[in-house]
Amino acid sequence: MLRLFGPLIAPIVGLGFIAALVLAILTTSWEAEPPTAAHHFHLAPKPLHLASDGPLGKFDRQQLQRGFQVYKEVCSACHSARLVAFRDLQEIGFTNPEVKAIAKNWATEVPSVNPETGEPATRKALASDYIPSPYANETAARAANNNALPPDLSLITKARHGGAAYVHSLLTGYQNPPAELLEKFPDAKPSGTLHYNPYFANLNIAMPPPLAADGQVTYADGTKATIDQMAQDVSAFLVWTAEPKLENRHRTGIAVLIFLLIATTLAYMSYQNIWADRKH
Ligand code: HEC
Repeated sequence: MLRLFGPLIAPIVGLGFIAALVLAILTTSWEAEPPTAAHHFHLAPKPLHLASDGPLGKFDRQQLQRGFQVYKEVCSACHSARLVAFRDLQEIGFTNPEVKAIAKNWATEVPSVNPETGEPATRKALASDYIPSPYANETAARAANNNALPPDLSLITKARHGGAAYVHSLLTGYQNPPAELLEKFPDAKPSGTLHYNPYFANLNIAMPPPLAADGQVTYADGTKATIDQMAQDVSAFLVWTAEPKLENRHRTGIAVLIFLLIATTLAYMSYQNIWADRKH
């Protein structure tokens, strides 16, 4: 019996697969998904050029310091940077006493314990502390932001498609919803606590425009603090927080390329040398 049907089994199984495929194709609905507002109105980030771009890129420390100032005076009211210790700021050009002063005067104190009673307490930040969250916990953060959670900014330029360009576009992208949007997608109208921003994935972001006026911070180096300048500077700073060793990586990459070039030349020369007398 098996000998008789043996050769037929493979074609039968094959036909079974083909039938399943045909059935799947016939029963699939090919209608496109209904268009969404984000489909039509979401924008890709505007290009942003920073000194740290490219394989030879280096940080512009002056710009990083300005960016830190924007972070400190504006963003840190809602966002932590818990992977950055105050002492790390020496890498962008602050001196040790400056770092100590920055930590000591930080608006939020860090959690600690009262040495006498053992009760939870807070104390002034030290250079070795990480930049704290202004909120005690996630619930408190949401309660203060209409239930939205301001994310930690340490890694945000790695965590979002477009990186620094995205952050720059987001900060400068607040605008009134276009009339066409309201006409075609009345539901996409930002509700009371949301703000229209075409660079944000779903167009309506819970963060109120943090950079609202030119001159919101006063730069020590005399750079004019336009909204765009502040947005660029804080984006550059957030590239550094996400990858403080970027310059080392670039340097290592170049050194490895040079080494490989020399090694290849040497290998080629020894190959020629070894086979020199065989060639003739
Ligand atoms: C008043 C509080 C507040 C301030 C000040 C603030 N933010 Fe936010 N931010 C938020 C909230 C809330 C969210 C979450 C938004 C959401 O999920 O809709 C957010 C989200 C973000 C995001 C993430 C957006 C995404 O793609 O998910 C970035 C980036 C960001 N903020 C950067 C900044 C920067 C840079 C500054 C300073 C220039 C700043 N924020 C100042 C409240 C704030």
